[in-house]
Amino acid sequence: MTQTITLIPGDGIGPEVAAATVRILDAAGAELEYENQIAGGEALARHGDPLPNEVMDSIRRNQVALKGPVTTPVGKGFRSVNVRLRQALDLYANLRPVRSLPGPVRQRFDNVDLVVVRENTEGLYSGIEHEVVPGVVESLKIVTKKASERIARFAFEHARLHDRQRVTAVHKANILKMSDGLFLQCLRNTAEAYEEIECDDRIIDALCMQLVVFPERFDILVLPNLYGDIVSDLCAGLVGGLGVVAGANLGDKIAVFEAVHGSAPDIAGQNIANPTALIRSGILMLRHLGQKEAANRIETALDHVFNTAETLTRDLGGQASTTEFAEAIVRAMNAQ
Ligand code: NAI
Repeated sequence: MTQTITLIPGDGIGPEVAAATVRILDAAGAELEYENQIAGGEALARHGDPLPNEVMDSIRRNQVALKGPVTTPVGKGFRSVNVRLRQALDLYANLRPVRSLPGPVRQRFDNVDLVVVRENTEGLYSGIEHEVVPGVVESLKIVTKKASERIARFAFEHARLHDRQRVTAVHKANILKMSDGLFLQCLRNTAEAYEEIECDDRIIDALCMQLVVFPERFDILVLPNLYGDIVSDLCAGLVGGLGVVAGANLGDKIAVFEAVHGSAPDIAGQNIANPTALIRSGILMLRHLGQKEAANRIETALDHVFNTAETLTRDLGGQASTTEFAEAIVRAMNAQ
C-alpha cells in the first residue's frame, strides 16, 4: 500500500540531498507519495514564519516526514525550527545510529557500531532564557522525571528489539547533582526492568575522551538533549563525518527522519554534498513504515558503492557530485 509522507527539503544543501534521496527511494520501488512542504528560509520569506502551520498539519496528517536541514540564525533571530518541531509534535527520542562505513573509505575508525539516543524535548533546549539584569542572563535547564523515564525506556526497548547488550547513561551528575542526577536516577530505575541488558554510566567529559580513543567499546548511549546534540556530531566524526550519519525523531505516533548534519551553507548549491546521511534516514523511514524490501535494496547498494569506492563524494576523498553518487546507487540496485 502506498504511504504518503511529508517531504521537507529544507535549506542550503537540503534540496540537493533530498532530490538524491527521493531518486533512490523511487528507484528502490518504495511505495511512497510525497507531500512537499516548505520550511526554513523560503517559508520565512513567503509566510513570515519558518515553520508554517500547514507544515505541521501535513506532518500530523501523514505521521511520517523526511526532512532536510533548516538554517537557524546564531545568537539572534527566530527560534530553531527543529527544536519547535520536536517539542510541538512531542518527538521525544532522537535516534542516531553510528556505524563505520564498509570498504576502503577514508574514516577514523572501521569498527564503530553504536547508537546515540538523545532526549529531544527538554534540558537546555527548553528555550527559557532571560536577562536577569543588564550583563547577566539565565538559561534554564529543565529535567523531568517523566521525560527522563520515557527516554530511558526507549533506549532499553531499542536495545531489546535490536539485540544490543548495553545502555550507557551519559551525564554530569557530579556537578549538576539535581538535574543530571535525576536523569541518571531514572535510567538506573528503568534498567531494573531490563535485567538482560547491561547498564552503566559515564560522565560526559570522560565519555568524550573514551569515544575518540576506543569507540568500539560503546553500544547504546543515552544522553540529555545538549550532550546528545554534541556527542552525535562527535560520533559522526569517528566514521566519515556529518555527511553519513542518519537520524530519526520519534514520538509515540509521529516520526520525522532527518540527517544529523545542518544546511552546510559553505557547499550549498554546488552539487557536491554527500547525500548518504539523508539516504540512510530514508532507510530508517522505510523500516519504520514496514517497507523492508526497499530498505534492504538501498542498504545493499549503498554498501556496494562504498565497497568499490569508485564513486565517492569529496568529503570521503572522492570527486563524485551528489547526483553522480546517487546514480551509482541506482545502478547498483538495478544490478542486484
Ligand atoms: P553543518 O552540519 O551544516 O556543516 C558543518 C560542516 O560539515 C560544513 O563544513 C559542511 O560543509 C559539512 N557538511 C555537512 N553536511 C555535509 C554533507 N552532507 N556532505 C558534505 N559535507 C557536509 O553545520 P553548521 O555549519 O554548524 O550549521 C549550518 C546551519 O545548519 C546552521 O544554521 C545550523 O543551525 C543548521 N543546522 C540544522 C540542523 C537540522 O536542520 N537538523 C542540524 C544542524 C545544524
